[in-house]
This record gives sequence, C-alpha cells and structure tokens, in this order.
Amino acid sequence: PQIDTSMREDGFQALGTIPQLQAEGTIVDRRNAPKPVLIFRHPETQAIVALNPMCTHQGCTVELSADENLFDCPCHGSQFGLDGAVLSPPAEKPLPLFEVKEEGDLILVKT
Ligand code: FES
Repeated sequence: PQIDTSMREDGFQALGTIPQLQAEGTIVDRRNAPKPVLIFRHPETQAIVALNPMCTHQGCTVELSADENLFDCPCHGSQFGLDGAVLSPPAEKPLPLFEVKEEGDLILVKT
C-alpha cells in the first residue's frame, strides 16, 4: 500500500508502517539520498530507532550483524552499536540518529 511520504510542516515524513517493519525487520529508505534512513526495532527496548546507515568513516552502508546486536561496516570493519555509537574504529563519529514517532500504523521520521 502506498503511503503519503511528503514532508510535513513539522519536518517529519512517513517512511514506513508498523506492519511493514514487522514483516521486513528493517526498512531502508533512500528517498532523501544522500541521507538514507534505516529503521528497525531495538530488540531490547522495543523502541523504533531510525539512523543514517552511512558509515561515518568513508560512507559505505553498514549492515546489521548476524545476531542483530550491532552494525558492521563491510568496508574497513568499523562497528557501531544499535544506538549508533562507535564500538570499533576506524570510524570515529557515531551514526546520526533521527527523531521517530508513530502515528497509528505510520512510522514518521524527522530527516
Ligand atoms: Fe566504514 Fe571505512 S567506510 S569502516
């Protein structure tokens, strides 16, 4: 189903739905390239998290690790926590987080 992804006055955009997140595990939205958004549900807090998955080292796209408790960068091995914090260099800066809110079934992200 199509959702209205236009930017709202408050800067939030609907980038996915709760059923979609449940079905797919993660949602990656490249509409705002070069500022992609990756949305996932934190396995412990159950909170919906949205962050920019471009590695802060040289811009490769990070991937959720097999056990889903951190992000790996395929290029030079940086690792980031689910909150975006750097766990292993060479990256030095965290992955930027976006504000997220839910509205019914919609997931809204401030990009
Ligand atoms: Fe990610 Fe270099 S681009 S570690």
